[in-house]
Amino acid sequence: MKKLVLTGAAGSLGGHLRAPMAAMCDELISTDIVEELEDLQPNERYVQADLADLEAMIDVMAGADMVVHMGAFVDEGPFEKLLGPNFIGAYNVWEAAYRNGLRRVIYGSSIHAVGMYPKTQAIDTEVRHRPDTFYGLAKCFAEDLGSMYWDKRGLESVHMRILSCAPVTNARALGSWLSYDDMVRLVQSCITTPITGFSIVYGVSDNDRAPVDNTKARFLGYRPQDNAEQFADEILAKTGPLDPQDPFHACHGGPFAAVKLGEPASSITKGADQPEE
Ligand SMILES: NC(=O)c1ccc[n+]([C@@H]2O[C@H](COP(=O)([O-])OP(=O)(O)OC[C@H]3O[C@@H](n4cnc5c(N)ncnc54)[C@H](O)[C@@H]3O)[C@@H](O)[C@H]2O)c1
Repeated sequence: MKKLVLTGAAGSLGGHLRAPMAAMCDELISTDIVEELEDLQPNERYVQADLADLEAMIDVMAGADMVVHMGAFVDEGPFEKLLGPNFIGAYNVWEAAYRNGLRRVIYGSSIHAVGMYPKTQAIDTEVRHRPDTFYGLAKCFAEDLGSMYWDKRGLESVHMRILSCAPVTNARALGSWLSYDDMVRLVQSCITTPITGFSIVYGVSDNDRAPVDNTKARFLGYRPQDNAEQFADEILAKTGPLDPQDPFHACHGGPFAAVKLGEPASSITKGADQPEE
């Protein structure tokens, strides 16, 4: 791989991806809206750019093979707040990738594209979209964008519907956890799989309680190695039995499924529960 591009490079997941992605290519272009990025790898260059600026995205992707698109506003909020970074930003990434002849977009999608399904239903990668928020709706938009650019323009994309890639602090995360190491494994397999076409995969570790089914995405070669069960005794002792009527826990989207449209998920955060993804 000659050149890879990483958007959202200053973010939490971007920070874990920079070194392993740099190791996979001759040159890594890391981009974000922040002014600067510290501790650049020897073959990494930082470019400050707004996802909502198409010309900037076209410049960033010149000569690249693939882009890993992680940049976004990451919470529920008013539609207008998400429009630039998440909706227009997604269009700009796909359009810039297409104009530069990239092979593939690897996208940080989310469980919130299907967050309104009840937890009692195990969902696979073929269920219809059922977004829980404007944030989830933007993920649906980007997934459909990827589908259309594959069908009409031959640009491949893998949509990683990440559940929650953060430390395990609550009962929901016993099922939804994606360890940072597994997240890196997932991105690596999305890059190295020879042919992906348009694909969807859930970003989740090998948790005993994982509520999603990745069977149809096995061809990607993603084999998670971590399991949140190691935290179960400690977490369940803290939270006690969960209330089955609590909308916080009833749907795949967790707190996002319970929040009012347009309101940050932190507005309904309770106790030690974080509004994790
Ligand atoms: N962390 C999770 O558990 C999780 C779960 C599901 C999906 N995701 C998705 O994965 C991706 C990365 O998530 P994260 O946890 O690292 O989030 P993050 O908020 O830490 O990182 C997002 C980055 O995007 C950048 N950004 C925001 N607006 C921008 C703009 N207009 N132009 C350029 N850059 C901009 C931010 O500066 C930030 O560095 C996001 O798309 C998120 O929706 C994350």
